[in-house]
This record gives sequence, C-alpha cells and structure tokens, in this order.
Amino acid sequence: MLAGKNILLIIGGGIAAYKVLELIRLLGKSGAKVVPVMTHAAEEFVTPLSVSALAGQPVRSALFNLEDEAEMGHIQLTRDADLVVVAPATADLMAKMAQGLANDMASTLLIARNKPVLLAPAMNVAMWENPATKRNVDTLRGDGCHFVGPDEGDMACGEFGFGRMAEPAEILAAIDAHFAVGPLKGKRVLVTSGPTHEPIDPVRYIANRSSGLQGAEIARALVGLGAEVVFVTGPATAARPIGAEVIEVETALEMAAAVEAAGALDAAIFAAAVADWRVASASESKLKKVAGKGLPELELVENPDILATVSQRKNGRPALVVGFAAETNDVLENATAKRKRKGCDWILANDVGGDRGVMGGPDNQVVLISENGAETWPWMSKRQVAEALAIKISEALT
Ligand code: C5P
Repeated sequence: MLAGKNILLIIGGGIAAYKVLELIRLLGKSGAKVVPVMTHAAEEFVTPLSVSALAGQPVRSALFNLEDEAEMGHIQLTRDADLVVVAPATADLMAKMAQGLANDMASTLLIARNKPVLLAPAMNVAMWENPATKRNVDTLRGDGCHFVGPDEGDMACGEFGFGRMAEPAEILAAIDAHFAVGPLKGKRVLVTSGPTHEPIDPVRYIANRSSGLQGAEIARALVGLGAEVVFVTGPATAARPIGAEVIEVETALEMAAAVEAAGALDAAIFAAAVADWRVASASESKLKKVAGKGLPELELVENPDILATVSQRKNGRPALVVGFAAETNDVLENATAKRKRKGCDWILANDVGGDRGVMGGPDNQVVLISENGAETWPWMSKRQVAEALAIKISEALT
C-alpha cells in the first residue's frame, strides 16, 4: 500500500522508542522506504544498530557529520521524503518544534521540512496534561501538524492515563490514511461523538446512554474514503477510530472548545449526544447526605449548542454541516423542525424510544432530512449507516 513512499522517521528519546522497531518492520512490509533519524536520547532506549538493520538504512543522528553531508545534505532528507513521522514525539521534541528550535539533527530537519508531519506523542500522563505541553500541541495543530494518539492506558512509569504512544499498527493506519486516494482526499472533516459527562461533584456526573459507536463508525468510514478526520469524543465506550486525529473531552464546554480549536473544516458531523444542561456550579467536594437536611438542589444551566453554533457561523462555516436528532416521538416532524432551527444542512433522525435499543446498541435506522425532503434508510448496522453516510458526504463535497 505504501510502495515507493519515502518516510523520514524521527525517533525521539522515550521508552516507547522500542515500539518503533515494530513500526519500521510494518512500514517495510508495506513497501515503504524508511529513513531513520534518532535523537541522542533515543539512542539510550534503542540501539542505532537495531534501527538501521530493520530499516536497511543508516541512522542519521549527528547534525555535523562530514560523511553524511558529503553524501547528502541533511536538508535533502526532508526534500526526498513523502511524509515525516515523529515517533515517539516526546514533550521535549514537541516543545522544540513549537518554538522553532534547531539544535540537533531531529529538530533541524523538523524546522527545515517542506513535507507534512505526523506526530505520535508519548510521555507520562502528567507531562501530556501539563499546560505547557497542551499549548505546544495547540501550536503544532495550528501549524498543520497531524497527530495519532496518544492512547490511554498503563504506562512504563507505573501510572495510568493518556500519554501511551499509539500502537505501531495504529500509526501505520494513520500513515496509510495520509496517502489514501479516496474521494475525500484533501478534505478535513470533524466528527463529534459519544456522551458528555457533566460533573455534579468530584464523583457524580450527568450523562446519557450513548456508546459513541455511530460516531466512531462515521469517522472510520470517512478515514476510509481518504478524509482527514478530527474526532472529538466524550467519554464513550466505543473503540476510537484508527487513522483519525482523536481529541478526548469530558464535558460539553470542553467539546465546544475542541470544535472551535479544530480550525478550517470542509464538513462537520455532530453525532455526539451532548448533555443539554450542566450543573451551574459543580461542587468541589462530594455532596453529603445529611439526615434532616433534605435533598440537594442542583441548579442547571444550558450548555452551548455546538451544532447550531457551527451551522450559524458567519465566517468559516463548513460547506456541509450534519446533525443528529435522537427522538422518542414524532421523529419526522421534530427532526425537520430541528434542521431549520439549528441551521444545519442535513439531519439524521433516529427513533431512540421504546425497546428498539438504538442508543448503546449495534444497529440503527435513520431518516436523512435535507432541504430536498426526507429519505428513510432501512434498519442497518451502525457501520453500514456510517458507510452510506460517508458516500453521501463525499458526493456532496466533490
Ligand atoms: O437539540 P438536540 O440535542 O436534540 O440536537 C441534537 C443534535 O445537536 C446532535 O447532532 C448533537 O450532536 C447536537 N448538539 C450539539 N450541542 C448541544 C446539543 C446538541 O452539538 N449542546
């Protein structure tokens, strides 16, 4: 699939560097040429010998190397590449990139590159969540860098959370998606998915039954058609779509901010079951049941309507905005009115009432409502609904 593609692979210094050996093997199997560059720190985790043996290429690491420079100026490495991949993208490497530093081979190549870059971050969860790293990630996103991962899970340091590097197969899928020549190649599409959790206190929250499966399947189908997909998900149980840029959020406010930060989009699909209300001021400590004191009073305030906000943008509205309408009665009437009220182009209406098991289940039955009227689709798996929708989207955008 990647035959003839030249991947400049920059290996940062983190324990996840060991997984890069497998990535090199997978890339080689897919026919790609891998030109490896290691930071000095990376050489503390895996040996240049292993890397060059698997890549079938010498490892570049020193910025001032007479032999390399005589053979091929280091800048040339990025000119020859089709894609630059940074794995693991450490906090330090990303900070250097965000600042434009160029004090070793890896950072110099990154600032000198004229090719797209895909970053696979890996670091301790506290490093990933540090405001400085967050700022750097936002800067890099704004600069057009692509991300795969990090994933949530156990870490080498014994802690748990976000910061684990995406698995090699996942990075390979993101690289494949980058080169995919589907009808949506070059289109950037956002998908929101899952429920939101609105805190009541540190241990309780308001939520709903959304599994996030329909949204994840839509993202997956869009990636399959070659789109660059930004997937903003609440705390859903469904697996995250491989090949999409995944942004995890918890609350509706966080989801709204992530959608705003996503930048220019060709289409936006709002499949998330966003909580309509949040507790006005969540308690910082656990609410206690005190005998004789009665029930706690929860003041609710309305969450921003993300779909309506994007649909009604004066500037930078995506060419196609799609919403969902989960209804329990008068599905068609309610959804038709909702399309008008929100200002989106299409609404996918589904009946989540009774014992149909749509919410949280594997199947769905939707009615697509557009300015041309309503189109009823048969009962299908959520994957089939997603694939049919992705084809419709590609027809609308191309
Ligand atoms: O108004 P209602 O919640 O029924 O609208 C559902 C549609 O609006 C879905 O596409 C959902 O993702 C979106 N929505 C949103 N922000 C909200 C509420 C709903 O984007 N606060």
